Amino acid sequence: MTTETNGAEIIDGKLLAEDVVARVKTATGDLLSATGIQPGIAVIIVGEDPASQVYVASKGRKARECGFHSVQHTLDAETSEADLLALIGKLNNDAAIHGILVQLPLPGHIDEGRIIQAIAPEKDVDGFHYINVGKLGTGALDSAFVPCTPAGCMIMIERRLGHDLSGLSAVVVGRSNIVGKPMANLLLAANATVTIAHSRTRDLPALARTADILVAAVGRPQMIRGDWIKPGATVIDVGINRIAAPEKGEGKTRLVGDVNFDEAVKIAGAITPVPGGVGPMTIAMLMANTLVAACRKAGVNPPKF
Ligand code: GUN
Repeated sequence: MTTETNGAEIIDGKLLAEDVVARVKTATGDLLSATGIQPGIAVIIVGEDPASQVYVASKGRKARECGFHSVQHTLDAETSEADLLALIGKLNNDAAIHGILVQLPLPGHIDEGRIIQAIAPEKDVDGFHYINVGKLGTGALDSAFVPCTPAGCMIMIERRLGHDLSGLSAVVVGRSNIVGKPMANLLLAANATVTIAHSRTRDLPALARTADILVAAVGRPQMIRGDWIKPGATVIDVGINRIAAPEKGEGKTRLVGDVNFDEAVKIAGAITPVPGGVGPMTIAMLMANTLVAACRKAGVNPPKF
């Protein structure tokens, strides 16, 4: 699952994601033949944000590839909060749907918090509902849904360092509810010694250099430099930033992470690339969460990912 270079191992997120998806497919077939239940996912998108449309289309494609029943609800940008709540209510009561995902961000007139809390916790495959946040925070991982991006990061970390991170120090740069906070809780549950850093942290480079595991989730292109990295560290780059790439021609762009990869790869022990690192894992974990939701509903033990 990794490529050796003179410097760091490059952690291949595409290959790891394919492995997760293959296991989801197998388990989906097993669930269907044992119980007649086919995992079902509903994805709701409100408005025409081009990036969101791309993400939602690829979630639908991957769900069908897994053998799921997959439905997409495309609502126009003026949809009222009440109408969106009514649709969520219907999906909460739909026995063919095991996972519900409302693509964020939502238009400004809709209260995102209210929408997320309206999703039945047992169908909240994003892991954003307070019930799931609380279960993760208290270590009740067996019945929680963990947000997909940090869940995917954790699989990458475990493949390199194992399931017990005792004695290792982890620094998570970024304190979002979607990535930074759940990531810190997962690392803590695996016995790492965890620090959450953010824009108000003093001397971030010095703190980052203490990290055996460094997770970057700030959304600032190439902010983390090579000399911020402890030699041999495992570096997980969650950032996906589009920047100008004049070297590719006028008006061209390219994707980069929050880590300066070319510098970091010389110092780290292992590092995720952008693209091809954390991104593919996120969607694979959404499939895993949906399968788990269907297994729980069926009273079948879900596989561990
Ligand atoms: N928009 C960007 N990332 C996410 C995500 O993980 N879940 C949802 N629902 N919307 C997103």
